[in-house]
Amino acid sequence: MNILNSILDCIGDTPMVRLSRFSDGLPFTLVGKLDQLNPGGSVKDRIGIAMIRDAEAKGLLQAGGTITEGTAGNTGLGLAIAANNLGYKCVFCLPDKMSKEKIDLLRAYGAKVIVTPTAVDKSSPLHYANVAKRIAKETPGGWFAGQFENQSNPLVHYQSTAKEIWDQTDGKLTHFFAGAGTGGTINGVGKFLKEHNPAIKVVLCDPDGSFYGPWFKDHKAQPAPRQYTVEGIGLDYIPGTMNFDHIDDVVTVSDREAYLAARKLVRLEGIFTGGSTGNNIAGAVKWLKANGAGKDALPVAFLCDVGDRYLSKMYSDDWMRENGFLERSDVTAGEILLRQRSRKLVTAEPAQSLAEVMVQVKTLDLSQIPVLENGEPVGALYDGQLLKLLLEGRKLDQIKVREVMGNPLPVVDEEITVGELLKSVEREPGAALIRRASGEWGILTKADLVAVL
Ligand SMILES: Cc1ncc(COP(=O)(O)O)c(C=O)c1O
Repeated sequence: MNILNSILDCIGDTPMVRLSRFSDGLPFTLVGKLDQLNPGGSVKDRIGIAMIRDAEAKGLLQAGGTITEGTAGNTGLGLAIAANNLGYKCVFCLPDKMSKEKIDLLRAYGAKVIVTPTAVDKSSPLHYANVAKRIAKETPGGWFAGQFENQSNPLVHYQSTAKEIWDQTDGKLTHFFAGAGTGGTINGVGKFLKEHNPAIKVVLCDPDGSFYGPWFKDHKAQPAPRQYTVEGIGLDYIPGTMNFDHIDDVVTVSDREAYLAARKLVRLEGIFTGGSTGNNIAGAVKWLKANGAGKDALPVAFLCDVGDRYLSKMYSDDWMRENGFLERSDVTAGEILLRQRSRKLVTAEPAQSLAEVMVQVKTLDLSQIPVLENGEPVGALYDGQLLKLLLEGRKLDQIKVREVMGNPLPVVDEEITVGELLKSVEREPGAALIRRASGEWGILTKADLVAVL
């Protein structure tokens, strides 16, 4: 039989996969270490159980105790998986920039979640780690895991993650790319790789705005850290788990580069990950290109967590556009119509009288009404013309739509982007009919596009 004793036995031994389609057109093929396939969906499952076992061994955590931690979300999940199996309670403190999905997820695992402000200094009592530390002190049987200081964090990466990568590549990897939150991953993996082959290049992929990159360059820079939105990596100080001794270089990655890379990865490879993974693969490609890597390279990038927890952020086109990571003019007509679901399209038929049409439209402020015959556009009624007929005192029940309708509106497909659609609606009559994939019709006016842009 091949049955494991608990979910804890499913942690680690994650696969490595060639990212061939993602690397298409590049001289080298990037390889991914798929740590998002851990049971909790992230690399942090490894350190959750490792820190707990270490605390148990040192007598810091006793049966029925309470684990507290300041976490970007994933470490909390890793701890919760282990805690639930071993009978501990959990209290987690998360900065408020973390996605709602992560908070809901921790609550689903039965943990107590406390949300703290992101924009506070590390020394503030409101800083997420300080809140978690205080709660551990105040709770009988409380133990603060402290992933930013706890040396079992880099150690488990040295003992498991690094060894797996080494064995899976037969020791032939040439580069290793990872970001650093606590630095546990890159520190532990980097140390092992350098011990086994100092020629392997270990490159830190750091978000633009993090303190790590500038500090690496001269070991003294004190830039004011800028805000960035990628979660889980980059920091504004050097924690006890970070070590630059095993790092050869740093490549800086913008939020936009990270998000676009992760979105490309899932579309080309079906590998669904978060922004920190995007940061690593974008950084890897950028660094390898800049350093002239060729087909002999066997570069490994670290894939950190699953994409599900970022659906409302980097995988939401609206969120991406609001934050300037996607062009507004890339919205498609179909997407705009989806947002306007409640708006009903009013159409007329050529054989109807104008009076019949007016019954339908009397409370609506419409400038044009498409005229359809057998489901296809054959003309349109325009408000100017209706106004003229009314002013002339004509009886609307005696006029057929066919007699007064004007040219049909231009017809476009729902895949058209706002940028292209603008060309169709710029000219009179200022609206276009959208042929939807479902077979229905939609209408978008110049005003709709202005609202989007
Ligand atoms: C999503 C995600 N990616 C990457 C990391 C960074 O890993 P490490 O703390 O080992 O540097 C973290 C850390 O919290 C994370 O949450």
